[in-house]
Amino acid sequence: MNTNRLSKTLSKALNNQMTKEAHASQIYLSYGCWARAQGYDGFANFLFRHAHEERNHMMKILEYVLERGATISVEAIPMPPPNPDNIQDCFQKAFSHEVDNTISIYKIVKMSFEESDWATWNFMQWFVKEQTEEETMIINILDKIKVAGGNNAKGEALYTLDRDMNSTPDDAELAQDKTVENP
Ligand code: FEO
Repeated sequence: MNTNRLSKTLSKALNNQMTKEAHASQIYLSYGCWARAQGYDGFANFLFRHAHEERNHMMKILEYVLERGATISVEAIPMPPPNPDNIQDCFQKAFSHEVDNTISIYKIVKMSFEESDWATWNFMQWFVKEQTEEETMIINILDKIKVAGGNNAKGEALYTLDRDMNSTPDDAELAQDKTVENP
């Protein structure tokens, strides 16, 4: 008896999305290491927390695929991109990456719609909301960096912003604390 409730195409797309989330985690980890080396401990703290959140996204997909009776193939994670030039560049690149991820998630939503796989469509709504929150979160950080001087941010303004990042709780709640009912 076949108990797999996911199509081949959706299984593959979700598996690829898992790797994308793992890649996102590695990117934030890598940027966090860069930030720490620059002395931006507050930004590093934020980026490390976000690396953890991206890994939780990967696990959320993994658990869903297994619950639906499909199989997972754990794939190689691509190398993170080179280090950013400065703190504004860091968050601009993080934002671009989030937009790419949003596009990838929308594709899966579309596929699930076309297959009338309402369980997967419903599952993916959590990610649609999460991406909106994450994009907003980074836009807000970029706004603050701009106020602090953008590409030329330095001195007191950058020091204060970095200190605030360190003491501000992660704006996007940790993924494991969220559910579809309590997003
Ligand atoms: Fe899991 Fe930032 O997307």
